[in-house]
Amino acid sequence: MPRRAAPSSVDDDTLFDLRYARAEGDLWPMYDRLYAGHPDAAKVRDALDQLMRRYWNARPADLKLLDLTRDLEPDWFQKPDRIGYVFYIDRFAGDLRGVESRLDYLGDMGVTYVHFMPCLKPRPGDSDGGYSVMDYRAINPAYGDMADFEAATRAARARGISVCVDLVINHTAKEHDWALKARAGDPAYLDYYLTFEDDTLPRQYERSLLEVFPETAPGNFTWYDDMQRWVWTSFNEHQWDLNWANPQVFFEMVEVMLFLANKGVEVLRLDAVAFLWKRMGTRCQSEPECHMLLQALRAACRIVCPAVIHLEEAIVGPEEMLPYLGRGEHDGKEGNLAYHNSLMVQFWSALASRDTGLMTHTLGTHFPPALTNATYATYLRCHDDIGWAVTDEDAGALGLSGAAHRRFLSEFYDGSFPGSFAKGALFGVNEETGDARISGTCASLAGLERALEEQDAEAVNRAIDRILMGHALIASFGGIPLIYMGDEIALLNDYGYLDIADHAHDSRWLHRPHMDWAAVKAARAQPQSAAGRVLGGLTAILTARARTPELHAKYATDILETGRPALFAFARRAPTGSILCVFNFRETWQSLPTGWVAQQGVRDGHDILSDGALGAPDGQIPLPPYARVWIR
Ligand code: GLC
Repeated sequence: MPRRAAPSSVDDDTLFDLRYARAEGDLWPMYDRLYAGHPDAAKVRDALDQLMRRYWNARPADLKLLDLTRDLEPDWFQKPDRIGYVFYIDRFAGDLRGVESRLDYLGDMGVTYVHFMPCLKPRPGDSDGGYSVMDYRAINPAYGDMADFEAATRAARARGISVCVDLVINHTAKEHDWALKARAGDPAYLDYYLTFEDDTLPRQYERSLLEVFPETAPGNFTWYDDMQRWVWTSFNEHQWDLNWANPQVFFEMVEVMLFLANKGVEVLRLDAVAFLWKRMGTRCQSEPECHMLLQALRAACRIVCPAVIHLEEAIVGPEEMLPYLGRGEHDGKEGNLAYHNSLMVQFWSALASRDTGLMTHTLGTHFPPALTNATYATYLRCHDDIGWAVTDEDAGALGLSGAAHRRFLSEFYDGSFPGSFAKGALFGVNEETGDARISGTCASLAGLERALEEQDAEAVNRAIDRILMGHALIASFGGIPLIYMGDEIALLNDYGYLDIADHAHDSRWLHRPHMDWAAVKAARAQPQSAAGRVLGGLTAILTARARTPELHAKYATDILETGRPALFAFARRAPTGSILCVFNFRETWQSLPTGWVAQQGVRDGHDILSDGALGAPDGQIPLPPYARVWIR
């Protein structure tokens, strides 16, 4: 990179050069390691260099200003006032223009980050909820067009709300232009995908591959008569895995990233990143090359659009997940955000078993107290099923059988386990491995649906407390809490999906209800109703979070041994003092000795959530069922 000598003022080109110099060491060495042996490597490298300059030149001035702002405030996404909300555009607001009219609603809750669920043009018919994309440069016509999209990101940005969109980089729809050309036999585009003339290699790969959707899309390859080829399809038949070993695919995806960045996207949710690299004899998940690719993609954004951060979606076990936030040589250079799947799984697990032992062990053993330039996306529910990512080793450390515990959780949350408070549905049942996952909304899984059906006021109270305790947990743990649309008004399971042909086979639609605006109105009018208490309680939690500087994600989260199986606790270690967060996972009263609390470096016993002092008669702080306290 030619460096300019002491410019008298900082112009656009100088800024670009400085950022290029900052991040090229993260980009080209990774690129070379991935593609050095490929005949097109040098050509594509030059094209990438030109591409980045082009997109920088075309970047709108307001976004260049945002780049600068974020360069000066690199921890913007780690601050406690960052609060996320996740929704389907049509189900939340009809279309993109509708979204603009709902920004007040989100602002009232303290939301500063919105995830527009898949909004790029999907294939027609079943599109896996929009994750089967046929055009990365067009908006789903049902939601509006690119101008509407830019207007929506601008309106959000004007209110300090960052927009996140999905970028599905592992596969395209089989209707994508690249796939159509491949299907027509164009050799350049055939090399964008992984295709095979006979089943020799697919059979060898299958020996070590898992199945993502065993019930509805068994196997990982699909035969096409017209092509006379097998195509790698990890997810559904209509989702063709891209060949990331081809540098041209890397180039195309960088271009798509920069294109979306210049439309005002601030967070790119890189979908299914564990699957990017294939290696014979492995599960073809989380291979080392995935991290090289992700570091290189990250570097390209740091050069052209540093306002943009990356959320990596890798729903895997603890040890496998952390590298997506950058470990070892990738430390601080990979994802800025990754879903904290383990925290979510452990929350539901401890709620069912009324025992926090496994949670304390798992979260305390596998996760470092703090991360470099990265943090978690914390959540209780999302649009996907819950897979019981509890390893046999972790279960074994507590004297549990992993398989038995996972089975228990599925039975508990589909509601069949005797005494269960939950209502949900199984997803992805794999007869061979015995694995089963769960669908259901936060409220229904937490017991509200059953309690309302049974008109059991006590059970309603307990369900509400579970929901609020969970949200107090994800709001304080460290990271951006993501509220899943409708959870703030305790929306119940939506069984209507069974009547929709493209959805009926996929129980995940159970927890993708339409937003109920009448229910919002009612919740506000009747703050003592179930929905009213959840909305009020959640808003109070989020407000308290935004006002608590100690919850900045850069401060360590120390998981604590309480010695009490009902309680889960951690301390947030800010330089100005610690905050002790304690959660009661049982429907019975518990207590916490003041001596133990003092040992954690917390003295005055002020609870931030209730904004009151915690009384401690006889040196014991009493904790009601499903209590949540943040003690300063
Ligand atoms: C991600 C999405 C999921 C989708 C899959 C395939 O895991 O969250 O909904 O089915 O990717 O794109």
